Amino acid sequence: MARRCVYLLALGGVLLLGIATFSRSKGLRGKEPQGAASRISSQFSEEERVDMKEALKGAIQIPTVSFTSEDYNTTALAEFGEYIYKVFPTVFSTSFIQHEVVGGYSHLFTVQGSDPSLQPYLLLAHIDVVPAPAEGWKAILQALELLLIRDYIPQRPFFIALGHDEEVSGKNGAQKISTLLQARGVQLAFVVDEGGFILDGFIPNVKKPFAQIAVAEKGSINLMLQVNVTPGHSSAPQKETSIGILAAAVSRLEQTPLPNMFGDGPLKTTLELLANEFSFPTNIILSNLWLFWPFVRRFLERNHITNALVRTTTALTMFNAGIKVNVIPPVAQAVVNFRIHPAQTVQEVLELVKNIVADDRVQLHVLSAFDPEPVSPSDNQALGYQLLRHTIHSVFPEVSIVAPGTCIGNTDSRHYKNLSNGIYRFNPFYLRPQDFTGIHGLNEKISVQAYETHVKFIFELIQNADTVRVSVPHVHEL
Ligand SMILES: *[C@@H]1O[C@H](CO)[C@@H](O)[C@H](O)[C@H]1NC(C)=O
Ligand SMILES: *[C@@H]1O[C@H](CO)[C@@H](O)[C@H](O)[C@H]1NC(C)=O
Repeated sequence: MARRCVYLLALGGVLLLGIATFSRSKGLRGKEPQGAASRISSQFSEEERVDMKEALKGAIQIPTVSFTSEDYNTTALAEFGEYIYKVFPTVFSTSFIQHEVVGGYSHLFTVQGSDPSLQPYLLLAHIDVVPAPAEGWKAILQALELLLIRDYIPQRPFFIALGHDEEVSGKNGAQKISTLLQARGVQLAFVVDEGGFILDGFIPNVKKPFAQIAVAEKGSINLMLQVNVTPGHSSAPQKETSIGILAAAVSRLEQTPLPNMFGDGPLKTTLELLANEFSFPTNIILSNLWLFWPFVRRFLERNHITNALVRTTTALTMFNAGIKVNVIPPVAQAVVNFRIHPAQTVQEVLELVKNIVADDRVQLHVLSAFDPEPVSPSDNQALGYQLLRHTIHSVFPEVSIVAPGTCIGNTDSRHYKNLSNGIYRFNPFYLRPQDFTGIHGLNEKISVQAYETHVKFIFELIQNADTVRVSVPHVHEL
């Protein structure tokens, strides 16, 4: 699922930024960390690197593949539990870390901080089918293990949640962990999940990579449309058949896009942020969206990827009717999948759809639905966002631009929205256009280098959570 998120984020970035070129950004950087003296360097010894590689190899061999929410390889998931116990002994033997198994196969680690006045945060990853070119969960535990070996004691408390069924909705893993934390009265400063990427080489003539942190995530509705008529023989048909009525309805839906919401959500902010990085005339256009927004709005609609960033999309995915050549079918059914823009709700979309269908003979049945996640803050006071940005700059010094984005797919993080208003999706990986030849194939190409970088990123992120401070705003609360 995160795979789709990644894919569309990246392509969205490509096309969006394909309007023109940009190069660099100053002024976006967060504060330098304080207390750098006590900082533990993320230099790993040769021996540690060999261990890392072995641990990674071992983990890949466990087939924790999920199929449906009822059908996943529980043997492999159980084996996984034993595996992490074996490979990360320090994590499991540290007195200020508690480990719990939740929902049978998911794992929750509670890391107490030396300063309980600091609000905790949560690192999320999942152990079933891996969407990213290295394994997030593994990097998190590996980084923690390496920090602990170096006698690290965190100031800010945090949690690590490893869900086991993200690929199939997360209802047994992530949701149970979230419920547990809510029952314990936990409020999180922020949540980091898998999602955004460092995009490299997507814009013609621009060599510089840039990072996208997903701050928003679309919602979804699977809607079934159904038409029932009295069955009849094809020799004397009624003027309209179930198939005809339903086909007209779904055609109207396809021909009538839901409203363009450009201006709501993070996209406009992102463009404004990046405006000065573009060359003429795009810099002028994007710096003056108050004037040019109708043009930009229409421009973004023209391509199906950027279109998905500005509106709730409508996709007809199933159509079933008829079983015999000479019988008018009594029932015709179609399924439409809507991906809801962050500025709309399930209810609003259903209202709009009803008005577009405008035919009482077409029944609407919601098969499944959830609202988009609230847009997480990305301003100077947004601790999670600034922390990620700061860590990106330090681990990837060549990346000068970090921008917020929207995740078009769905991740586990939606289960955590009661716990925090700052939910961020980011993978510390490069995504290059050539990777798109097989986003699925990325797993097979896990490079040890990428894994080490991931470990380093988490290693730095955990330390930065103790040192990076954002100025507390006077008026509004985080
Ligand atoms: C499930 O996992 C076990 C243990 O890793 C493995 O031996 C088995 O082949 C897996 N089954 C399937 C269907 O993948
Ligand atoms: C959030 O809290 C509300 C009210 O307690 C509850 O009904 C809802 O199920 C919770 N949502 C999640 C995703 O945990």
